[in-house]
Amino acid sequence: MNIQKTYLYGFTIVLFASLNIQCKGNKKDKISEETDTQKMEIATIEKAAYGTTPEGESVDKYTLKNQKGMEVDVITYGGIITSLKVPNKDNVYEDVVLGYDSLAQYINKNPYFGAIIGRYGNRIAKGKFSLDGKEYQLATNDGPNHLHGGIKGFDKVVWTAVAIKGDSTASLKLSYLSKDLEEGYPGNLKTIVTYTLTNDNVLEVLYEATTDKKTIVNLTQHSYFNLSADFSKTILDHEITINADTYIPVDATLIPTGELADVTSTPFDFRAAKTIGKDIEAKDDQLKKGLGYDHCWVLNNENEGFKLAASAYHPESGRLLEIYTDEPGIQFYSGNFLDGTLPSKTGGTYPHRSGFCLETQHFPDSPNQKDFPSTVLNPGEKYTAKTSFKFSVK
Ligand code: GLA
Repeated sequence: MNIQKTYLYGFTIVLFASLNIQCKGNKKDKISEETDTQKMEIATIEKAAYGTTPEGESVDKYTLKNQKGMEVDVITYGGIITSLKVPNKDNVYEDVVLGYDSLAQYINKNPYFGAIIGRYGNRIAKGKFSLDGKEYQLATNDGPNHLHGGIKGFDKVVWTAVAIKGDSTASLKLSYLSKDLEEGYPGNLKTIVTYTLTNDNVLEVLYEATTDKKTIVNLTQHSYFNLSADFSKTILDHEITINADTYIPVDATLIPTGELADVTSTPFDFRAAKTIGKDIEAKDDQLKKGLGYDHCWVLNNENEGFKLAASAYHPESGRLLEIYTDEPGIQFYSGNFLDGTLPSKTGGTYPHRSGFCLETQHFPDSPNQKDFPSTVLNPGEKYTAKTSFKFSVK
C-alpha cells in the first residue's frame, strides 16, 4: 500500500517534470534562445520498469538527468547505479561505471557493482562483535569474516523510491527497513539513501539511519569506475590521489591488524597523483595480501568535516573524478578480483582491474578495534554521512 503510494508520488513528480518541460518547449518555438537555456536548466527524472525479482518484487529504474546532460541510472534493487554518463574533454558523454544489462545478471552474481552497501561496509572479523557485553554473530560470507552486510546485504534488497525534483537538482530518495537481527544485526534499522544530481555534475549521496536498539552502521557506495569508458581496458593508467598520511594494514583475511601505517616511501603513498599501475606490482607484503590495493586509508582531517578525500584522473579522456566526504576513511580497491569472467554491458567480459572503487566509510572491523572511530548507533540518535562524486575535465 505504502509502496504503491510512494511509486504513485514518484510517478506524479516525473509526470509534472515532463509537463513542465513540455510547456517550456512550446514557448521555445515562439520566443528566443533564452527560453532554450531555461529549458535546459530543468533537471529531469524518469521512471521505467526494470524487472521482477524471483520473489516477485518489482524493480524500477530511475534516470536522473541534469541540464548539462549528465545522466545517472539507479535501480531500486540494491540502489545500484547501473549507468553514469559524464563528458570527456570533447564533451562526449559516456558511461563510466561497470555494471550489467539486466536484473537477472545483478541477482545472479554481482561483485557489488554500483550498489549501496550496508549495514556494514567492509569486513568484521569472524562476523562477531559485542555491545554492552552481549555478543552478536553476523553472517560470515567472506572466508571466516563478515563482508558488506552479509549474505543478503543492502545491495540485494529492493528499496522504496521517491523521486524529488528541486529547481536545479534531481534526487532519488531510497528507503529500506532492515528488521531486527537481519543478517545478525540488532535493532530495526530505518535507512534512507538519497542520490542527488546537481547541475555542477556532482552526484551527492546522503546516508541516514535510525535504530530502535543499540547497533552498528557503516554505509557506503560500491561503484566501480573506469573513466576511459572503455571497459575492455584496465584502470592502471588512472592517476589517483588520496589525502591520507596513513593507511590500515591488514592480515591475510583482510582484517585490520589495528596499526595505522605511515604511507611515506611505500606503494600506499597517493598524496601526490600517481597512476594505479605505478607501484601495484611492487614487492610489498600488504599488496600481496590485498592482491593489489584493497585497503582503507585514514583521511587527513585538517579541515574537520566535509573534505576532498581522493581523486581519479584519466589523462586520455580528460575525465576527473573528485570525491568529498565527511567519513574518516576511504577503501581503495583496484578491482583485483575481476578475472575476465563477468559479462560486460558493452560486450565481452570485464578484465582483471578494469574498474576501481573508492568507498568512503568508517574503518573495517571498527566494532572490534577500540582505537578506531566508533560505528555504534544508539536509539534516539541519527546516523548521517555524506559523500559527493564530482566530475569535470582537465
Ligand atoms: C570490497 C572489498 C574487496 C572485494 C570487493 C568486491 O571493496 O574490500 O575485497 O570484496 O569489495 O569484490
